[in-house]
Amino acid sequence: MAARAWSLNRDIQTKRTAWKALQIHHKKMKEIHLLDLFAHDPVRGERMAAEGAGLYLDYSKNRITYQTLKLLIALAEESGLQGRIDAMFRGERVNITEKRPALHVALRAPKGTSAYVDGRNVVPQVHAVLDRMAHFGERVRTGEWKGYTGKRIRNVVNIGAGGSHLGPLLATQALRHYADPFLTFRFVASVDASAFAEAVRDLDPAETLFIISCKTFNTIDTMSNACTAREWLVSGLKTDKESVAKHLVAVSANVAEATQFGIATGNIFEFWDWVGGRYSLCSAVGLAAMLAIGEKRFGEMLDGFHQMDMHYLATPFQRNLPVLMGLLSIWYNDLFGAQSFAILPYEQYLERLPAYLQQLIMGSNGKHVTLIGTDVIQPTSPVCWGDSGANGQHSFFQLLHQGTRLVPCDFIAFAEPLRSYGRHQEMLMANAFAQTAALAFGKTAEQVKAEGTPDWLVPHRLFAGNRPSNTILAQQLTPESFGKLVALYEHSVHTQAVIWNINPFDQWGVELGQDLATTILPELQCSDDKPLQHDSSTSTLIRRYRSMRRRPEQPCDG
Ligand code: F6P
Repeated sequence: MAARAWSLNRDIQTKRTAWKALQIHHKKMKEIHLLDLFAHDPVRGERMAAEGAGLYLDYSKNRITYQTLKLLIALAEESGLQGRIDAMFRGERVNITEKRPALHVALRAPKGTSAYVDGRNVVPQVHAVLDRMAHFGERVRTGEWKGYTGKRIRNVVNIGAGGSHLGPLLATQALRHYADPFLTFRFVASVDASAFAEAVRDLDPAETLFIISCKTFNTIDTMSNACTAREWLVSGLKTDKESVAKHLVAVSANVAEATQFGIATGNIFEFWDWVGGRYSLCSAVGLAAMLAIGEKRFGEMLDGFHQMDMHYLATPFQRNLPVLMGLLSIWYNDLFGAQSFAILPYEQYLERLPAYLQQLIMGSNGKHVTLIGTDVIQPTSPVCWGDSGANGQHSFFQLLHQGTRLVPCDFIAFAEPLRSYGRHQEMLMANAFAQTAALAFGKTAEQVKAEGTPDWLVPHRLFAGNRPSNTILAQQLTPESFGKLVALYEHSVHTQAVIWNINPFDQWGVELGQDLATTILPELQCSDDKPLQHDSSTSTLIRRYRSMRRRPEQPCDG
């Protein structure tokens, strides 16, 4: 194993020199309005913008000056950001609690390049799997791959949870414009039987392929749904377990378990333990997207990711999009005390992006201890939420404009639409740009009065403004720009993690509830009078559930 070339940061964020300077600077900045910042600098909108890998970021509507940027960048430098970026790309075991690299950047490294895990170049194995995915995808798309009865596959159902669900779901929906219209895609994540029932309600088993996507191949939700899928096939096709092999493929880092489940070796698409679940979209976990858009488009998506990877690795912080966005998030989260931020794509195909980013951002940075196990001093990940901007502006934007909370926003927009009807695109973009201006500059009492508003109504109708936002503008939503966008957020999350000195690559927080569920499950299934050992709330809920549930009693296991 290569020696670690980066050092575990033992210092405390609030003791760093740059941090102290930022705190002093913030005292002044929190009193300054964006109206004044723009009034004093007529070219602010042009200068406070950066372009990287073809994405344009306007960050001028943030409550910052050039001095703020200088201090934030000093903080990044003092926190050893470049060293940590380099270490991640070098395949070092940056996920220290799980003793693994976090080498998702290798998943999109072009053929012929290299990325090392324990001295071994993993790029060839990455491409070997991509080639198998492409070949399989082609067979399904052309109809060469047939189901048990000889019918071709028309429906693909991805069964997976967390990263094994949200990534393929997002990519398949975001890139639907480029997808084969012959194929229908459904996604089942929850163990709630309604999820499975709804996904298959109008599907013919003879034409349906299930992708069981599970890194560990032991996530209980996924495995329960996988068993139900197999039973649905067996009963729908009136055959036995073995005969439905053509309808079940697996994506996993645990090939042994997938084989044990009964998936033929040739139908297993592998990935590796150095790929974290929420960073796995570019691995075999993206198989549904490969089936939807085909090898060429999938390759373009990987290329988009790779371009943003290279931008993050090699661009000076002043012009580095993920670094700038990460530092701005730190500015609001840690200095202004903002509790959340909103992601607002002005592109219907990206409707599920906020849900995907919730896992990426909060799963990565929702942590309370530093890399050395001490409590973090500052709040870590903000709560991230959002929806299609065009829909949100008729609902929750009220709070963004006039609520009492500071909610920084990311607006995501595209110059070229994918669908063109009349003036729709210009209306959409006019709304996106107008919202950023309204949030930033608001409307003063004088302006409201000048419109003839009676005095009593003025406070209700004024907009304080000074509400910050970023605008990310790309040419068009393509597989390539989609890849750049997702990688932009991945690396912004990494930048923030480095400042907080936390590990963004583990997720111990999801375990406790799942472990407890294992204990509670048999208690729900039986109805004896044995005392329950939980707290009084949980025990009462279990008893109440048992008395409300209408089903035949089952014997207790002992
Ligand atoms: O529940 C959290 C988690 O561990 C995620 O990190 C992961 O993406 C998801 O579960 C699914 O894991 P698996 O792919 O092993 O089913």
